[in-house]
Amino acid sequence: MIDTIALADKAFAAMDGLSYAPYSGYPVGAALLCCDGRVFAAGNIENASYGLSVCAERVALWKAVSEGARDFVAIFIAGRGEEAPWPCGACRQVLNEFAPDIVIYTQHEGGKIHMRTLTQLLPKAFKL
Ligand code: THU
Repeated sequence: MIDTIALADKAFAAMDGLSYAPYSGYPVGAALLCCDGRVFAAGNIENASYGLSVCAERVALWKAVSEGARDFVAIFIAGRGEEAPWPCGACRQVLNEFAPDIVIYTQHEGGKIHMRTLTQLLPKAFKL
């Protein structure tokens, strides 16, 4: 069973402590849960050349994959503002590469937790 509250804590801690978002002012945190119980957490990382910015989800995934992790159960995405931050299309595709069956949780500060599978968010994903 997934400890959603523990995952949420790590995602919000990443949003507060790891995000680098001076241009948008919109910090996001992601906590990626591996099958073996490890959690890789990250924030979005922006750049003065805006298009080079990377979402929190992808930073978390790159951290995990670069440490040898390949099997993922869930990702919790934390944000501020008025609505929960659903992953962008690019992040959905990148998650699909490693974890087509991943469960996605998202919540904005003070809001409720939403849950969808990646298959629900990215039906008929591209595969070679
Ligand atoms: N962002 C994420 O990190 N994850 C999302 O799910 C949506 C958007 C980031 C990208 C950029 O740094 C900022 O939020 C504003 O778009």
